[in-house]
Order: sequence, then C-alpha cells, then structure tokens
Amino acid sequence: MIRFDRVSKVFQGKPVVDDLSLHIAEGEFTVLIGTSGSGKSTTLKMINRLIEHDAGKIYFAGEEIHKFKPQDLRRRMGYAIQSIGLFPHWTVEENIATVPQLLKWPRARIRERVTELMTLLHLEPERFRRRYPHQLSGGQQQRVGVARALAADPEVLLMDEPFGALDPVTRLTLQKEIARIHQLSGRTIVLVTHDIDEALGLANRIVLLEQGRVVQQGTPLALLTEPINDVVRDFFGRSDRGIKLLALGTVAERMRPGSAEGEPIQAAMSLRDALSVFVARGSERLPVIGEQGEALGVLHFSDLIAQKALS
Ligand SMILES: Nc1ncnc2c1ncn2[C@@H]1O[C@H](COP(=O)(O)OP(=O)(O)OP(=O)(O)O)[C@@H](O)[C@H]1O
Ligand SMILES: [Mg+2]
Repeated sequence: MIRFDRVSKVFQGKPVVDDLSLHIAEGEFTVLIGTSGSGKSTTLKMINRLIEHDAGKIYFAGEEIHKFKPQDLRRRMGYAIQSIGLFPHWTVEENIATVPQLLKWPRARIRERVTELMTLLHLEPERFRRRYPHQLSGGQQQRVGVARALAADPEVLLMDEPFGALDPVTRLTLQKEIARIHQLSGRTIVLVTHDIDEALGLANRIVLLEQGRVVQQGTPLALLTEPINDVVRDFFGRSDRGIKLLALGTVAERMRPGSAEGEPIQAAMSLRDALSVFVARGSERLPVIGEQGEALGVLHFSDLIAQKALS
C-alpha cells in the first residue's frame, strides 16, 4: 500500500531520515516508534506530502506519490495529530465534515456520516454536534480529530501521537476504539507513538527508528523476543520484558478447565490486565467468562508466570 524506497530527508544540512526503506502492507496496522527526534513525524508527513522528501521514492497504491496532487493524497489519507488542529471557529460537526464538504457530498449524507462517527467515538451527537472546540475537553477534542480523519472513509489513516495529551484511562479507551475501527474497517493505519505499550497493544508491525534509520522492524512479539541488538533490547525494556509480553496474550490462551470464586474476568482480556487483577485482588485464581457471560474456565496465577519462560 505504501512503500519507501531508500528515502532521505535533510533539514539544514542534517539528515533526519536517512536511506529509509519500508513496506506498509494494505490493511496492516504499523506503528513507528523511537526516541524524540528520531524522524517519526517527518516520515509520516512525507507520506501525505506535508513534507517533501529529498531522495529516494515513496509509492502509494503502486504509484509514486509525486503523481498525485497533494490535496488528492490528503483526501485519500486521513491525518490525525496530537495537537489536534481543529478549526476553532467551526463546530464539531463542521470540523468532522471537512473532507466530505471538499468532496461535495450531499448534505444529508454528510450529516449521517457525522452522526455515525460521533456515535462510534462515543460523542453523543445531539449534545456535541454544535459545540465549538473550546467547549470540549482535551479528550473530546482528540476524538473529534480522529473522527475528522476518518470522515471520508480514507484508504489510509495516518496518526501522529493522536492520544498524546490524554490521561491513561481516556487514552486506553481511544486505543481500544482505534483497534476496533481497524478490525472492522480493515484500513491501513500508520501510527506514531513514544508509548511502548501502545505500540505493543495496537501494532501488527512495529518499526523502531533511531536517527532516521530503521533499527529493527517486525511483529511486537519478534521485537520483544528476538531483538537484533542492545538498542532494541533496551528500548523495549530488558527488565520487564516478561510483563510486556503478557500484553500480547489473552486470558483465553492460558486458562484451564475448572472454576473459582470471585468476580469473573473476560476471556478476551490481555494477560497483562489479568496480572493487574491478580495483584489488586491478591487471589491465586480467577474465574473466566465469555462475551455472553458464560463460564469458560479458570486462570491460575502460576500459569501467567509460566509465560515468562518465553522471554
Ligand atoms: N521543519 C524543520 N526544519 C528543521 N529541522 C526539522 C524540521 N522538522 C523536523 N526537524 C528536525 O528533524 C528531526 C526529526 O524530527 P521529527 O519531528 O521527525 O522527530 P520525531 O521522531 O517525530 O520526534 P518527537 O518524538 O519529538 O515528535 C529533529 O531533529 C527535528 O529537529
Ligand atoms: Mg513527532
């Protein structure tokens, strides 16, 4: 879907993206991660030509991106950023409708789409539709930013730390929402983050950048279990790799037949969240239920720890 072939970008004589080759497959959720200044945002902005690259080639849908007009690229790629960039004098509805308006969709269709997206992102349409950005909380503004990026059902969603300024709970809710949108729509998503847990939880593939170069790319599991060098190992945290691995598994994979006392946990819960429940309750065993609340089995604390053998 998107391919970088030996791409470089120089700012003031300094290469900030250096001979970068990347392939982002259609439908894949790719996360670009790396320390501050490693070139993540620059890489993302070169995809929709907010920044022009200096050398190499970037392809979108099989064509060199210079073949597209920047505005056409931007209509086909939703873009959401941490600082949100909502238009302050436009209502929520007008902000979300930016691209559909440009595409001259009929009024009724735009209204329907705005309602659909607001509902999807848990913003009550009738309550928030006519508000202005300054009348929203930071988290609500970021939801509007994500809704706007999704509005015209773009082929690609580019997100630069879209949940950056949020408290952990709101952040987790929005992460789950994005994961759900990805599952439902099968869209190609490229997300930039500093947050290792966010990367591990959302990505099909993680690309670790350092000084504008790819240090390693692969599945979350591969980066955790087969780091190619100490940089990668340190980045993903040597000490609690076992704990981080737990974020990748679900309770369903570790549970056994049987039953236990207490408030049940969902089979789809991550093992990492299950660990938190064990710690909070101080219990050795937790009953497990399915989506309909049916009893499925039991999770033993010791079986969680066995997972650590992987690391
Ligand atoms: N317009 C610009 N002019 C000059 N230098 C720039 C410009 N934009 C970015 N840079 C430099 O390029 C490097 C990479 O910047 P970039 O924004 O891609 O990093 P990043 O990985 O997104 O960092 P962060 O995690 O802090 O957002 C930095 O050293 C930055 O100072
Ligand atoms: Mg950045």
